[in-house]
This record gives sequence, C-alpha cells and structure tokens, in this order.
Amino acid sequence: MGAETTKPAPEALVDRFGRRINYLRISVTDRCDFRCVYCMEPNQRFFPGDQILSLAEVAQVAQTFVDLGVRKIRLTGGEPLVRRNILPLMRSIASLPGLGELVITTNGSQLEEMAQQIRAAGVKRINISLDSLQPERFRHITRKGNLGRVLRGIDAAVAARFERIKLNAVILKHRNHDEILDLVQLAVDKGINISFIEEMPVGQIAEHDRAESFYSSDCIRTDIQSRFELVPTTETTGGPARYFRIPGTETRVGFISPHSHTFCADCNRVRVTAEGRLLLCLGQEHSLDLRRILREHPGDQVKLDQAIRDAMQIKPEGHEFDLRADSVLVRHMNVTGG
Ligand code: GTP
Ligand code: 5AD
Ligand code: SF4
Repeated sequence: MGAETTKPAPEALVDRFGRRINYLRISVTDRCDFRCVYCMEPNQRFFPGDQILSLAEVAQVAQTFVDLGVRKIRLTGGEPLVRRNILPLMRSIASLPGLGELVITTNGSQLEEMAQQIRAAGVKRINISLDSLQPERFRHITRKGNLGRVLRGIDAAVAARFERIKLNAVILKHRNHDEILDLVQLAVDKGINISFIEEMPVGQIAEHDRAESFYSSDCIRTDIQSRFELVPTTETTGGPARYFRIPGTETRVGFISPHSHTFCADCNRVRVTAEGRLLLCLGQEHSLDLRRILREHPGDQVKLDQAIRDAMQIKPEGHEFDLRADSVLVRHMNVTGG
C-alpha cells in the first residue's frame, strides 16, 4: 500500500454528530498523592502496574492520535507527576510533528521541584488544582495535601514561564464557597487564570452528598461580581470553560458548568484512561479497549488506526449527569483523567 493510502486524512476523527475530535486527554496513572473528597474514596484501590499502559504504549497512542488529526494533548491522572519517568514521555509527545500543544493538569504537589523541567520538556500550559487557601481546610478537602507545598509549586510554575497557568477550583457549598473571592484575588495577584468547576458525579463517594453540595456557576459568578468586574470573552482554549476577563488584570476567569450550561454540543475531545480504555465521553461508559489491541497486535498500526476511527461512531451525544440520581458512574475521576 502506498503512503497516500495509509496516511489518514486529518479530518479522520469526526463523530456521528459532526463533531471533530482534536483534543486528547490521557490519564497516565490512576495513582495520586492526594485523595480529594470529590474525586476518590480514602481507601481507593489502584490498578496493578501491568494493567496500566506502559510509557511506550502511551507514546504510541499519542502518536496515533496526532496522525489522526489531534492537535492538543493533555496529560492528567490521578496525578501525572507521580508517574515514574514522566519527563521523557513529555519530551517525546511534545516533539510529535503536527501536535499544536502538550499541556498538563496537576495537583501541584511536585511542581516546586519539577516545574522548570516540565517546561523544558515542551509542556506549554499547565492547570493546577486549588480548592482552598486555608491550610486545615485544604488538608481536609485533599485528605493528604500540604497547602504550602502547592503554593510554592504555583510560584515555581510562574517562574518557569509557561505560556498560561490556570488554577482549577471545584466549589462545594458550605465547604469552600466562601473562598471564591480569595481564590480569584490570588489568581489576580499572580497574573494567572482560574476556572471554577461544578462537581460531577463521577465515581461513588460516601464523604458528602453531591446534590446538597452543588454550587452553580451562576452563584459563583454573582459572588465574584461583588468585588470584580467580569467582561465576557469569546476566547477558548479548546476546553469546556466559558471565559471572562477582569479588566485591568491579566486574569481570565473560566466557568466549567456541566450541569448549568452544558457544552456537549461542542465537544472536541476523547480520553484514554490509565488502563488504556478509550473513553468517548466523560459522563458515559462507551469505550474501546486500546490496551487489548496494543498487546494482542503489537506494531499493527493499521488495526489501531481503524479501531480508533470506528470508535468515533459510538461517541454519545452527551452526558446525563444527575446529582440526585442513585446511579453514578462506577469509574472515579482519577481513573478517567478529569
Ligand atoms: P484548558 O485546556 O485549559 O481549557 O483545560 P480543560 O478545562 O480542558 O482541562 P482541565 O484538566 O483543567 O479540566 C478542568 C475540568 O473540566 C475538569 O474537572 C474536567 O473534568 C472538566 N472537563 C474537561 N472536559 C470535559 C468534558 O468533556 N465533559 C465534562 N463534563 N467535563 C469536562
Ligand atoms: N467533579 C468535578 N471536577 C473534578 N475533578 C476531580 N474530580 C471531580 C469531580 N467529581 C477535577 C480536579 C482537577 C480536574 C482535572 O478535575 O479538581 O482540577
Ligand atoms: Fe488526586 Fe486530582 Fe483526584 Fe485530587 S482531584 S485526588 S489531586 S486525581
């Protein structure tokens, strides 16, 4: 077969609803040094090492998706920075011809030591989770985290000159909703961005009732407007957030509102879970077992390409998140990659 017939067209990944998939999120590990209350159970069990994609398998998956037209890859977890030898993986993905940007989402715990190296490895932008500025509360929400370390990590990221830094805050009513203004102020002071996220029912948790903790993006916006002016923008990072600018500052404020303003109609992304499942929607179970293909047919690029293209046909129209329903996804966010 000639090169022209084997090289897929860049528009290869289009689903039944005409949505073009150009953003891939890869969870490189389900492990994490935190146990955030909305993400995991305290005694969470993790996959044994041989069930997780190897770094070579992750690199092959990334290369395949870029050849199929993906332009943005985000490494997530669990906590991506606790995966051993993550830096060489970053270097190899960042240098893939055709990739627009490699970005990561992290809890910030390792950034104090790693920020410079991550930037040097070719990661352009970084998103850092931060839900509280009160040390005791931060410890409670993350169950294990140390606020001072994460704040030093954020400073290290600023010093490393990423093209953009975004804080991610999951807001829970009566838990941290009184810190919204403080979190925005921190972002303004550091000249970085911040997104506020509505909690999603991904994985069963006993720690709190997700419906009772719901605090909508509209409430958050009203709270912010008591101190800051918010000017809507049409800017997008290719992610789900709607952005506003705070005039006179460098800061953009984003809202990720899966419940109150769904964004499924514009979905441009798919995920690969830590154990190599191609997940077509964060909120549904439609998936393809990439690990099986990689391990049963090593080196068979045509089979892998075709399976991924075919999987676009089972991408669902959207999530059906319902905070009040008994049925929640069994898979937790750390497996899924946020
Ligand atoms: P940017 O590239 O900076 O826009 O990042 P992002 O918002 O795409 O990624 P990030 O890892 O910071 O994710 C922030 C939140 O958005 C997480 O809680 C994700 O779970 C959520 N999110 C991302 N994509 C989707 C999606 O397709 N559906 C839903 N419901 N939530 C999503
Ligand atoms: N709902 C909403 N966001 C979540 N995250 C983890 N679990 C949930 C959940 N159940 C967030 C983290 C991180 C991002 C990748 O996903 O705080 O910022
Ligand atoms: Fe770890 Fe992120 Fe889950 Fe918190 S939200 S436990 S930091 S994977």
